[in-house]
Amino acid sequence: MSAAGTTKTIAQVTLGASAAGVGCLAYAGLYEVRAFVLRRVTVPVLPAGATPVRVLQISDLHLTPGARARQAWVADLAALEPDLVIDTGDNLAHPGAVPYVLSSLGRLLDVPGVFVWGSNDYYAPGFRNPLAYLLRPSRPRVETKTPLPWQELEAGFRRAGWTDLTHSRTTLTLNGVRIGFVGTDDAHLGLARYETVAGPVDRTAVDVSLAVTHAPYRSVIDPMVADGHDLLVAGHTHGGQVCVPGYGALTTNCDLDPPRVKGLSTHTAGGRRAWLHVSAGLGTSPYAPVRFACRPEATLMTLTAQA
Ligand SMILES: [Fe+2]
Repeated sequence: MSAAGTTKTIAQVTLGASAAGVGCLAYAGLYEVRAFVLRRVTVPVLPAGATPVRVLQISDLHLTPGARARQAWVADLAALEPDLVIDTGDNLAHPGAVPYVLSSLGRLLDVPGVFVWGSNDYYAPGFRNPLAYLLRPSRPRVETKTPLPWQELEAGFRRAGWTDLTHSRTTLTLNGVRIGFVGTDDAHLGLARYETVAGPVDRTAVDVSLAVTHAPYRSVIDPMVADGHDLLVAGHTHGGQVCVPGYGALTTNCDLDPPRVKGLSTHTAGGRRAWLHVSAGLGTSPYAPVRFACRPEATLMTLTAQA
């Protein structure tokens, strides 16, 4: 091939690769980021003969006033009529988002609920290279961040009767099942102090025990499992957010291994094993509004009797 021919081939390949890149970016930012999906899982953690309990997990909304499609999709989730809502944090991405979170949840606020906070409830997102997320866990620099009005959101949740599980315990009886809950603050910000609520599950007081945290770092989920909680519920990972089709996530944005970046798995620690459910979440940072091979999701978990 002549020099001119080689130059032409390189130009064609470069042009083709650029067009494919632009196409992927357009797909990720214009379509998939709004291609919400409800994932359904069954978790056999209840005592024999117990009535199933339907739990809706909402996570990582990262809501802004202008995110109308996300708001509308979440509002429709009330039609599922779950028995319980678990909100695993990162609700906010804008100082004015609190009323939009509350109105989107709408009738879900009439359902019993529990919640924990994520870093993006406390602080507004800042600009960063979206691809840096793929290289290493993000490191929030709190000192340069703008606070968000999470206390307003907390007031709204509390008005609805929802329970803040931040370093707290509670028990709810749903469908005749005594469900114990324990939760922590956000490990991604270094705020988790599981030791303040640690201790073996009291099987005389509860039929099943759930442990809730925003970011599933091993420092939090290991002792939760060792204490005997049956199901751990977390968000934060965004499912890897930008994934490789046929391969999966490249990162979890924490020290969980990528194969367990989203969905139902198990976790073993201290000689025990528990179920772990991680939500890929519904939103993204406004500065990285793309998802690829990782659709935004909410999860309806049906807790059923153990075999
Ligand atoms: Fe998030």
